[in-house]
Amino acid sequence: MTTDKPRIVLVTGAGIGIGRATAEAFAAEGDHVVVTDVLRAEGQETVKAISAAGGSAEFLPLDVTSTAEADALVADVEARHGRLDVIVANAGIAHKVPLVEMSDERWDHTFDVDLKGMLRVVRPALAGMRARRSGAIVCLSSIMGVAYGWDEHVHYSAAKAGVVGLVRGLAVELARDGIRVNGVAPGYIRTAQLLSEKNSLGPAGAEKAAEFIPMGRLGEPADIADVIAFLASDAARYLTGQTIAVDGGLLVGRY
Ligand SMILES: NC(=O)c1ccc[n+]([C@@H]2O[C@H](COP(=O)([O-])OP(=O)(O)OC[C@H]3O[C@@H](n4cnc5c(N)ncnc54)[C@H](O)[C@@H]3O)[C@@H](O)[C@H]2O)c1
Repeated sequence: MTTDKPRIVLVTGAGIGIGRATAEAFAAEGDHVVVTDVLRAEGQETVKAISAAGGSAEFLPLDVTSTAEADALVADVEARHGRLDVIVANAGIAHKVPLVEMSDERWDHTFDVDLKGMLRVVRPALAGMRARRSGAIVCLSSIMGVAYGWDEHVHYSAAKAGVVGLVRGLAVELARDGIRVNGVAPGYIRTAQLLSEKNSLGPAGAEKAAEFIPMGRLGEPADIADVIAFLASDAARYLTGQTIAVDGGLLVGRY
């Protein structure tokens, strides 16, 4: 994708964690970042940090479970900026739910955020991207979707595996329109999601996990953000439909 700078980049769930680091990475490249999240204070903090570093960003609240909100937000961004060049579908939840407690509601909620939530932000942007014959989309999967099964998180593993299919399907349908779609499957990254005692490894579990990661450390949000930025850049112009594990060697090295 060769686009005039600054590109207009939309990141979901950009108030904290990988989303925030991603917003900062694009802003550091000179792009204008539309920071979105359900967490308003955190989203505004991301914008403040970007502005303080000399970058360009704005915050708009977005719950990715709302089609109406996503449609309106994309229309607003396109009306004000004339286009939307990059979408990073990052927002996600990983709730711990043993199978005996896996109600339809809990299953559907995770799918609604982690999988359909991605379609919701991509769909309204496609007409504009197609018309400009240019666009890059990056979706966040997980090593729990591309390789591992995760006990007590079956809905999460299934949704994140679904992201791989979403990326492939979108990539093929959009390839001739000049739009590329790729995924990133992070390993263990030091964010609120991983450090949650209730829903994930917790701080002690995360440090223990670091011991069997070949690179010997947990990932940092910026480790993922830089790969997302690469996938959205012209350097990745012939790359589409792939979901890349970024995990410090975990998948290939733990046996
Ligand atoms: N941290 C890891 O180790 C790890 C590993 C694999 C995949 N991932 C994936 O990477 C992405 C980012 O994860 P993270 O670790 O930064 O998590 P995080 O919990 O730190 O941040 C998730 C973000 O998503 C937002 N969000 C949640 N529900 C939303 C909704 N309905 N609408 C809009 N925003 C919503 C949150 O407010 C938050 O800003 C997620 O998709 C996650 O599943 C993370």
